[in-house]
Amino acid sequence: MSVLVTGGAGYIGSHTCVELLKNGLDMIIVDNYVNSSPEAVRRVEEISGKKIKTYDCDIRDTEKLDKIFSENSVDAVIHFAGLKSVGESCSQPLRYYDNNIGGTISLLNAMTKAGCKKIVFSSSATVYGMNNISPLKEDMQVGGTTNPYGTTKLYIEKILQDIYAADNSWSICLLRYFNPIGAHKSGRIGENPRDIPNNLMPYISQVAVGKLKCLHVYGDDYDTPDGTGVRDYIHVVDLAVGHVKAYQHILEKTGVDIYNLGTGHGVSVLQLINAFEKVNGIKINYVIDGRRLGDIATCYSDASKAERELGWKAERGIEEMCEDTWRWQKNNPNGF
Ligand code: NAD
Ligand code: UFG
Repeated sequence: MSVLVTGGAGYIGSHTCVELLKNGLDMIIVDNYVNSSPEAVRRVEEISGKKIKTYDCDIRDTEKLDKIFSENSVDAVIHFAGLKSVGESCSQPLRYYDNNIGGTISLLNAMTKAGCKKIVFSSSATVYGMNNISPLKEDMQVGGTTNPYGTTKLYIEKILQDIYAADNSWSICLLRYFNPIGAHKSGRIGENPRDIPNNLMPYISQVAVGKLKCLHVYGDDYDTPDGTGVRDYIHVVDLAVGHVKAYQHILEKTGVDIYNLGTGHGVSVLQLINAFEKVNGIKINYVIDGRRLGDIATCYSDASKAERELGWKAERGIEEMCEDTWRWQKNNPNGF
């Protein structure tokens, strides 16, 4: 039996494939490389010493997916494939709804036809909206997303819950990620933004490597200890390990289970810059700018449910995240 990984060539997907292979699990990748490169898969093969069966396929192509399911014995799907830029989703909402929601519906149709009813879905802390107070817990009310990207995550969670309500033989795990950063220890795979990064850590590392001149810190007047935004940064390898646990979990039971994957600790923008500078011995040039529209002051998880029920806990600290990000960035200044 194999796990089918959609979006397996992407940032989180590639790290998850390494962990799946490390655990002796068979897997296949489906990706159309809209935001990734086949080179990432090659490097996963290099790290793990195993060959991976890969399909260049858009998940909106249900017929092609049908064929993939008929050619392979798939027991579960880990579903990463989606577009993820908040800003782009505001300027191209239809593209985001079509790709993320249309893609998921196509995948679910193909899974239903193939009798495969187990799925782990990449959701996001963004579904908690602007009004819940951290630490965020899985049973808090979701909604109030502020951009089409976030809304696609909210709707897909709802679609998956409705599917289970109609057919109790499904086994579904919704994983709400906080802020994944870092890279594999080898420095061979990591985050590879196509344009100027929107997110903090890739921006810091591109300033460090000299591709960007200066980081803009979006606001130092928030109600936080140093005035800058606080987030729950999680090492991508910890996140990847969480997927192996979630996969094992859905094999054992039916239902819809929701888990936060975070560390449970908040780190401010200035703390992250300081940690990066200290661990890597590099000065990060930055200026304090105005607040970014749509940002909240503080967002971190209560990650105790995943520990209780999946036996999973984030183990890597902020220094390791900074060190591993830098190894990847300096060895691959232009990505893959
Ligand atoms: P990524 O862009 O690196 O990976 C996504 C992968 O999906 C890419 O390889 C891309 O080519 C592929 N893809 C996209 N649309 C596709 C389609 N229609 N058919 C086939 N392949 C397609 O992103 P990532 O950071 O690895 O994120 C993975 C998932 O986790 C996404 O669903 C994202 O929304 C979610 N997520 C990411 C973060 C984050 O901060 N990185 C936070 C919360 C949730
Ligand atoms: N920030 C800066 N300068 C930058 C980029 C970010 O100061 O150049 C600040 C932000 O204001 C925020 C913090 O750094 O305080 C983190 O910002 P990111 O953009 O890295 O992350 P967000 O928490 O805003 O959003 C991310 C993803 C969303 C996802 C959310 C929760 O981009 O898609 O985490 O998982 F929904």
